[in-house]
Parts: sequence; C-alpha cells; structure tokens
Amino acid sequence: MQFIADYMVALSQWIQTSTPLPTFALWLQKQWYSDGIAKTPYAIPVLQTIHTLAVAMIITAILMITLRVFMVAGKSRTLAQTLHRFAPWIWWCLLVCFVTGWLLAIGEPPRDMTNPAFWTKMVVVPIAALIALGIQTSMTKNIVSWEAAATHRGIVAQVVSVLFILLWLVIMALGRWIAYVPT
Ligand code: HEM
Repeated sequence: MQFIADYMVALSQWIQTSTPLPTFALWLQKQWYSDGIAKTPYAIPVLQTIHTLAVAMIITAILMITLRVFMVAGKSRTLAQTLHRFAPWIWWCLLVCFVTGWLLAIGEPPRDMTNPAFWTKMVVVPIAALIALGIQTSMTKNIVSWEAAATHRGIVAQVVSVLFILLWLVIMALGRWIAYVPT
C-alpha cells in the first residue's frame, strides 16, 4: 500500500507545482455555475448519491455477465441474452457517472481538480470503458465461442472476466479515495 501513498503524494506535488490546475480550480470556483452547484442545498449529496447508485448498477451488470461466463448464475439464459439484458445498463450508468461526476468536480474544484485520485481515475475510466467495448464487441461477434468457453469453463474467458471486475473495483477505490488523498 505504501507505493500507492507514495504515488498519490508524488502526483499531488506534480499537479501543484507543474500544472495550471490549481489556478484553473480557483478560477472555476469563481464561476457562477460552480458557485451555483456548491451553494444549492443538497446538490452535492444528491449528485454523490446518484453517482454511487450508478456505480452500483455498473458493477452489478458486469457481475451478472461474469457470473454467467462462470456458469454460476443466469444459466437459464444464453450468454447472448445475458449480454443483451445487462450491457445497456453499463453504458447508460457510465453516462450518468460521467455527468454527475463532472458536476461534482465543477461544484468542488479545489477538492477534485487538484486531486491525484481523481486524475488517476480519469485515466483508468476511459481505459476500462474501451476494454468493456472490446469485450462486448468480441462477445457479440463470437458469441458461439464465448458460449462454448463458458459451458466448458474456459480459463481465458474466466481470467478476462475476473481482471475486468478488478479494474472496476480499482476505479471504485479511486473514487472513494478522492475524499481522503492529500491535495
Ligand atoms: C466517468 C467519469 C467520472 C467522473 C468525472 C467521476 C468523478 C467523481 C467525483 C468528482 C467524485 C466525488 C468525490 C468526492 O467528492 O468525494 C466521485 C466519487 C466516486 N466515484 Fe466517480 N467519477 C466518474 C466515474 C466513476 C465510475 C465509472 C465509477 C465506478 C465504477 C466511479 C466510482 C466512484 C466512487 C465509488 C466514488 C465515491 C462516492 C462516495 O463515496 O462519495 N466513478 N467520482
């Protein structure tokens, strides 16, 4: 864990000394829309709640597809039916996370815009979204082989699924750490 703390401190110092983000955050904080979010009663907690619920839906949808790949749950449906049912939730909730997340960041600029956990997350989220798109496209195009891999408990499909879930858990941890890392 020490290397994560060292990384966060180093990135935080770099953001403070080598980027325009601290100045930008102070400028943004003076804008009417940032002030509006910050001063609107319940705006931040409501945005955080919607954000957290969307996060829960993303993780649940990914988990339901993974449990079907592992043939642990959803065996009464084909993998194609499972994908069709849960994949749209990933994309719509990612859109909700994007909108609520940026509204939170605009409403609390010094807290988020100079935050090493926030910017690390902003690098990992697009990577995870691209991997999600890649896996979904592969599953859609090669559903027969994915179904066979699931039925025969193919190790590759299982490893890909586990690594994918771990990636989203890292994003969740980064989101939670935003409130705690030094800025
Ligand atoms: C897509 C763009 C996203 C942006 C711009 C964003 C931004 C933010 C911001 C600003 C916060 C508030 C931090 C705070 O004030 O404490 C936050 C919290 C959080 N985010 Fe995101 N986020 C995004 C996507 C995601 C995704 C995809 C996940 C996970 C799948 C996620 C998980 C979390 C979690 C777990 C928290 C902590 C919530 C809490 O306990 O208050 N975020 N995010």
